[in-house]
Amino acid sequence: MPAENSLEVHHLFKSVGQGEHALSILTGVELVVKPAETIALIGESGSGKSTLLAILAGLDDGSSGEVRLLGEPLHNMDEEARARLRAKHVGFVFQSFMLIPTLNALENVELPALLRGENDKASREQAKRLLEQLGLGKRLDHLPAQLSGGEQQRVALARAFNGRPSVLFADEPTGNLDRHTGDRIADLLFSLNRDYATTLILVTHDPELAARCDRRLRLRDGKLWEEA
Ligand SMILES: Nc1ncnc2c1ncn2[C@@H]1O[C@H](COP(=O)(O)OP(=O)(O)O)[C@@H](O)[C@H]1O
Ligand SMILES: [Mg+2]
Repeated sequence: MPAENSLEVHHLFKSVGQGEHALSILTGVELVVKPAETIALIGESGSGKSTLLAILAGLDDGSSGEVRLLGEPLHNMDEEARARLRAKHVGFVFQSFMLIPTLNALENVELPALLRGENDKASREQAKRLLEQLGLGKRLDHLPAQLSGGEQQRVALARAFNGRPSVLFADEPTGNLDRHTGDRIADLLFSLNRDYATTLILVTHDPELAARCDRRLRLRDGKLWEEA
């Protein structure tokens, strides 16, 4: 049964460090995200956006509170169960692309499907189609170092969407790109997102990018505040 909400966060706290060096990053985050909603997470540098994103995606633990991703209680799951959930339902795009340098574009896109144990011929065809759709049909056997930043991020988009994720987490996906290339990546991101009806949680400090999302939530003083 599909979960009613993609994300439900209640009373989430996160502190790091000990004693006089303790730092409270999140101090009571509340959040409900509906399927296929697009959310911009904004806030000043150091406000905790990446920390929050990692917890929402099940890559990191909160100190206390509840985080339900697709109805699954991340706060009660061990790392193995969370990894299974991520592999099946979650996609990631990062500012620094995070491609595997020794694999070519096609292999980078295929790898998550192979790790999920999907049929390699079908998954290869699907990876190819996605790369072609993103204008990289002639770059399939290029290594990341042989691709421009914008091309690498298109490979990362193909990898993220290849698993048909229910939820996509993107942390400043245009942050390392020039304006023009960044706009092109954003167009592709929103277009894939519409095609697959993916829930999108997008960290950005770019107001234009944030304006393209359904809602904008600002992280300030460890809490989320809805903006117009
Ligand atoms: N594991 C950690 N140990 C110590 N400090 C951390 C840790 N993770 C994050 N921080 C600090 O928490 C704050 C929030 O970081 P981050 O989530 O990266 O912010 P943002 O993504 O909004 O720039 C920063 O001050 C950062 O230095
Ligand atoms: Mg960050």
